[in-house]
Amino acid sequence: MLTKKLIIALMFVLMFAAGGVQAGGDVTRGEELGVDCADCHGDDGLGDEDVPGIAGMDPADMVKELKAFKSGEREDEEEDMVDSVEDLSEQDMADLAAYFASLPGE
Ligand code: HEC
Repeated sequence: MLTKKLIIALMFVLMFAAGGVQAGGDVTRGEELGVDCADCHGDDGLGDEDVPGIAGMDPADMVKELKAFKSGEREDEEEDMVDSVEDLSEQDMADLAAYFASLPGE
């Protein structure tokens, strides 16, 4: 009977662990993906004179903008952003948004 209890306990642990994967954005994963964004937006996400700051941006707004670049609804003259978002999934965007939202803005 002990084995059965152990299996049940293990199932709960696994369920809990799976629940730990956030439904929204995963900041740690966003940080890894965000390395590619730092080239232009800076390590701190604050941007410079040519690139807007994205640190501290509302995550819902960020996902909306990233989707708009991907769909072509929002254009950028140099196509910098279009190239950056073309391979991103919705989960990637949510993770990136969660990460940049966690950084202090200006
Ligand atoms: C090659 C340079 C470059 C890279 C790499 C890049 N961006 Fe950008 N990003 C820009 C530029 C330039 C703009 C402004 C575009 C415009 O409005 O015409 C911009 C705009 C944005 C905006 C809109 C900001 C606002 O205020 O509306 C968001 C959000 C954004 N970038 C997020 C990201 C994320 C997330 C990544 C990484 C996946 C990334 N960018 C990678 C250059 C870059």
